[in-house]
Amino acid sequence: MPLPGERLQAGLEELAAAGRLRRRRVVEGKALGSARIRVEGRELLAFCSNDYLGLADHPDVITALVAAAREWGVGSGASHLVSGHCSEHHALEEELAAFVGRPRALLFSTGYMANLAVVATLLARGDRVFEDRLNHASLLDAGLASGARFSRYPHADVASLRSRLARVADSRAMVVTDGVFSMDGDVAPLRELAGACREHGAWLFVDDAHGFGVLGRTGRGSVEAADLGLQDVPILMGTLGKACGTFGAFVASSSEIVETLLQRARTYIYTTALPPAVAAASRAALRLVREEPWRRARLLGHVARFRREALRLGLPLMDSSTPIQPLLLGTEAAALAASDALVAAGIWVPAIRPPTVPAGASRLRITFSAAHTDADVDRLLEALTALPPAGSQA
Ligand SMILES: Cc1ncc(COP(=O)(O)O)c(C=O)c1O
Repeated sequence: MPLPGERLQAGLEELAAAGRLRRRRVVEGKALGSARIRVEGRELLAFCSNDYLGLADHPDVITALVAAAREWGVGSGASHLVSGHCSEHHALEEELAAFVGRPRALLFSTGYMANLAVVATLLARGDRVFEDRLNHASLLDAGLASGARFSRYPHADVASLRSRLARVADSRAMVVTDGVFSMDGDVAPLRELAGACREHGAWLFVDDAHGFGVLGRTGRGSVEAADLGLQDVPILMGTLGKACGTFGAFVASSSEIVETLLQRARTYIYTTALPPAVAAASRAALRLVREEPWRRARLLGHVARFRREALRLGLPLMDSSTPIQPLLLGTEAAALAASDALVAAGIWVPAIRPPTVPAGASRLRITFSAAHTDADVDRLLEALTALPPAGSQA
């Protein structure tokens, strides 16, 4: 009988043999809104951050953080329902709700916790939850944690979803989708999903972690880009750790839904509130999202420049119009070899492998930021062109 430690060691060796062992690189410094990262003694041009607008090191955001830390201290000291809910949190909630055009918003410490809160609080045993097969892991975990009957529909397949919804008799149903799929970069068919939900009386819950701040005419996200409102998408989640460059997340919805989460969501109630200084930094970032549309224009300009050239070069682009531009390479070995070759050329693009993506769909996940320059995009294209063909790497 193997000892528990031996069993764990065997499991780790299995991961290594399958090319699925993860390794953390220690980041020693960052500059230019995460576009330049010093790692293991070298400066790399980075295409791996979700700091899409380059706000993580914006002087206004840093000043707001420091000033609020001086005023409030660092930790909030308690959960929101005890004594941790500060005026910075409250003002940020009001500003987020106004920005996305919903009656109320509720702050969470992370997007993961916000997703658990929504699905596990609003649904119970006997209800139904339908999720896109490529949803973020936190949404899938939330569906399982809710105790509702859980069903995954094929990626973006609204016809399949409709036929599943048609079989639901009396139970409450929620359809859950990423707005922008985090590993593929494509946008969910939100108008069609909203139509299906309306017909069948189901809630639509959109996790817009990668759309908020980036998509839509004014940066309100994938729901704005699809021209949908509260009636169509009654529950919206956005994260602050990506386009806002800070940390945390929010759920924006009707007053009853937000109040229900505040009263009952375990991941809201039983945890320390975000540091108020982080909320203050997020307020400064939200102002920049609102007032500096050139950041979105520049970011989407990089995406267009990259796709135009990558198409001409015959790179294995996926069907994405967002700042997430994966290159599909297939095996774990091919993705790892390409990522290592790019690091050797001074560029950091992560290899994404199973279980994050399906077997055979390993990829390079390139993400662009407004902090990049056109010359950065060109340097990436040059390095990608110089990669040995997939399969020929050691
Ligand atoms: C689609 C999606 N939802 C939720 C999350 C979780 O957000 P957070 O990092 O704030 O926990 C992420 C990424 O982290 C994500 O990509």
